[in-house]
Parts: sequence; structure tokens; C-alpha cells
Amino acid sequence: MTDGRRGDVLSPESFVQVVRTRSAVRKYTTDPIEDDVLEELLDAMLSAPTGSNAQAWSFVVVRDPSALRRLRAFSPGLVGKPQVVVVACVDGSRLDQASHDGAPELCVTMAVNTLLLTAHAYGIGACPVTSFRSGVLRVLLALPDEIEPVFMVPLGYPAGERQMSERRPRSEVISYEVCGQHTPAVGP
Ligand SMILES: Cc1cc2nc3c(=O)[nH]c(=O)nc-3n(C[C@H](O)[C@H](O)[C@H](O)COP(=O)(O)O)c2cc1C
Repeated sequence: MTDGRRGDVLSPESFVQVVRTRSAVRKYTTDPIEDDVLEELLDAMLSAPTGSNAQAWSFVVVRDPSALRRLRAFSPGLVGKPQVVVVACVDGSRLDQASHDGAPELCVTMAVNTLLLTAHAYGIGACPVTSFRSGVLRVLLALPDEIEPVFMVPLGYPAGERQMSERRPRSEVISYEVCGQHTPAVGP
């Protein structure tokens, strides 16, 4: 179908398969991530939505092995030895319009989730990481005052099987029409 509703980009089933099989990956092989693949991941990441399309974000891509070692040393949440780390930041210098001042971290989070899913679609493992020392990161990456790191995203080809995490039952977390009504009403 090419009517703009279904299947004109990718079959919905294929997309849902990518979404539902993603998991945090914390063990990586030593295989490098190809330059063109990395560029695709970054371009996809930048297609994420932002409040008022402010794009108040900035990303630092770290590939240098000794720089990666230093990042790992100061980031308790960064497990394993990734080939690349993308540090996703809010760019405070873009926040001069009141309409989107409240939620720049949400926009960065949207970008990070897009990166996670795109990486998985390419067979690359990733993990959102917030346990790091911002002060040290500022120095290591020469971040100016207006750039605030929000997430680190390690990337690498997965070593071993993916471990899928449990999810709470949907009957517990999804309501219909009003909060707490867990049975769907009959459709319109
Ligand atoms: C806001 C946030 C912060 C996280 N920080 C870390 C972290 O510092 N280190 C880590 O290994 N995983 C971190 N994670 C990954 C979660 O542990 C993981 O997503 C969760 O256990 C669910 O597993 P799954 O992603 O495999 O479904 C973080 C995830 C989120 C959403």
C-alpha cells in the first residue's frame, strides 16, 4: 500500500519487531562501527521531535580509545567496552523562547530513544546511561557552561545473546477512557 497510512515506508510489522526486540546491551564485541552506519544513526537521531522545533541539543561523539577509557573510568553506569559513546546534551543557548523552556531534557530523551531503536535496527547494541559524573564529563569533553549532559549512549555490536527485561502487565498500566478502567470499552 502507498496511501500514506500503511506500509509506504516500512511494514508496520517490521517496525514493531524492531521496537519490541530492543533491549539494553552492555557487552560489546571489538568490531568497529562503520563510519557510514554511525552517520546513519546520528542522522536518524536528529529526526526526533523537539518542543517548538527548538532543537536545543548538542551531541558529542566519542570514538578515540583513550577518551573512551577515560569516560568509562568516571561513569559508574557505563558498563562494558563500547566502540562509540554518544553524549547527548541540552544546549541552553537555544532556550531563549519561553514556549519550550520547561522540557529540553525531554527533547534530548526523544533523540536518545530514536538512537537506541535505530542502532538496534542496524544490529548494534546500545544502552541509555545517566549514571556519570557531570563535572568530570564537562572537563573531558570541554563542554561549555550552556551545554548540559543528560545521557551517555554507548554503542557496539552485541557480544552474546540479548537479555530481554520483564515488563509490567499491560492490564496493570494501561487504562481506557479513565484512569483505572483496565478493560477497553466497545469501539465506536
Ligand atoms: C533514564 C534512564 C537511565 C538509565 N541509566 C542507566 C545507567 O546509568 N546504566 C545502565 O547500565 N543502564 C541504564 N539504563 C538502562 C535501564 O537499566 C534499562 O533500560 C532497563 O533496565 C530496562 O531494560 P531494557 O532497556 O533492556 O528494556 C537507564 C535507562 C533509563 C531510561
